[in-house]
Amino acid sequence: MPSWSSSSSALTAPNLRLRTLRIWSSKDYAIAAFIFLILFSLLLFSHLDSRYDSQPHHSKLVPLTLLRNANQTRALCLDGSAPGYHFQSGFGSGSRNWLIHIEGGGWCNSIPSCYQRKFTHLGSSDHMEKLIPFSGILSSDPAQNPDFFNWNKVKIRYCDGASFAGHPESERGSGLFFRGQVIWEAIMDELLSTGLSNAKQALLSGCSAGGLATLIHCDSFRQVLPKEATVKCLADAGFFLDEKDISGNSTMRSFYHDVAQLQGLAKSLHKDCIAKMEPSKCLFPSEIAKNIKTPLFLVHPAYDFWQIRNILVPQGSDPDGHWQRCRLDIRSCNANMIDKLDSYRGSLLKAVNEFQQRKEIGMFIDSCFVHCQTEMEVTWHSPNSPKINDKTIAESVGDWYFDREAVKRIDCSSFSCNPTCHNMDFT
Ligand SMILES: *[C@@H]1O[C@H](CO)[C@@H](O)[C@H](O)[C@H]1NC(C)=O
Ligand SMILES: *[C@@H]1O[C@H](CO)[C@@H](O)[C@H](O)[C@H]1NC(C)=O
Repeated sequence: MPSWSSSSSALTAPNLRLRTLRIWSSKDYAIAAFIFLILFSLLLFSHLDSRYDSQPHHSKLVPLTLLRNANQTRALCLDGSAPGYHFQSGFGSGSRNWLIHIEGGGWCNSIPSCYQRKFTHLGSSDHMEKLIPFSGILSSDPAQNPDFFNWNKVKIRYCDGASFAGHPESERGSGLFFRGQVIWEAIMDELLSTGLSNAKQALLSGCSAGGLATLIHCDSFRQVLPKEATVKCLADAGFFLDEKDISGNSTMRSFYHDVAQLQGLAKSLHKDCIAKMEPSKCLFPSEIAKNIKTPLFLVHPAYDFWQIRNILVPQGSDPDGHWQRCRLDIRSCNANMIDKLDSYRGSLLKAVNEFQQRKEIGMFIDSCFVHCQTEMEVTWHSPNSPKINDKTIAESVGDWYFDREAVKRIDCSSFSCNPTCHNMDFT
């Protein structure tokens, strides 16, 4: 007979209940309430914690670090504030590897346009976001960033207006600080003293104007790192072409002429180039890349919307506004316009073709209407990222960086031929 149905156990039950009533005095209720509160808050915190952990790592925000001793080193943003960068420590097998990424954001080519920048995050750390997410090539999530997720990662903020290549001698009482080169050197010094000087592997990268800065500083970056370290450079959407606009004007060349002149960029450009031609021509990537000795990778869209909107069809070149919709959304371009875009693509391919023979140079030229593809998960590495030969940009850069194979990936030859493209729509 099972003991639970015995009469003796039925009899003891009221006794138990009585004992319980006796034990729970008011003091005991207070203790119980206290224990309940502790358990409740533990539960609440573990819940919040798991919510935090379940977010992908890339969405964790990384704080801005202002450069120490900015005044002493004279490294200052356009407005005289201290420059800054965001840093996230490497871990595991990546703890001695470094990825440095330079922010982009165009250039200023005159005193008034640089003056305007002072009041934005591109000219002053007073206006920079204090916390930013690290995604794409900066992500710590191996699913999103398979080769570099556990490296030390730095995003250098852009606040000098001239791709980190300006010189103070050009300030000439303008009330603006032209310190790009000084900022570059001061940030390198600070990073070297925080562990970069022990790097085993390093990759200098940047997007747009930051891609141009990457090209300008690639070899000097190589020089400050240990001889035995593997050091390479990656320019994303930084291959600006010296092409005429649709009205026949050399808008970009004269723009670069003004930028180079205003901030004295010649001193930061390769002396062999400067000896042969004017500084503004030496600011174009096809000239810079010729002199780069460090292995280099170019990520570039064949229909780079920034170049279409600022080099091929700048505002003034289209007074009747025929290109207005096409500039915003390539799907709205007519056949005649697509012809012009295709011939621009042809110029890009001709320029990068010079590097076909150099096996240390890698490239990924997709036929997409986009600009800067390494900083976003959706274009860098995700199930629906742009692919060439079934490889994402992240996989292509990894194949090249780790010498898994030579990478010269050039996409199919027309706009809309690659269904994996993420084409922008600004309408
Ligand atoms: C540099 O020094 C000047 C004068 O002491 C001060 O006003 C300014 O805030 C300092 N700037 C930075 C970036 O520390
Ligand atoms: C072409 O450039 C010249 C000289 O800079 C300028 O005066 C002219 O307005 C430009 N034309 C167009 C259509 O932008």
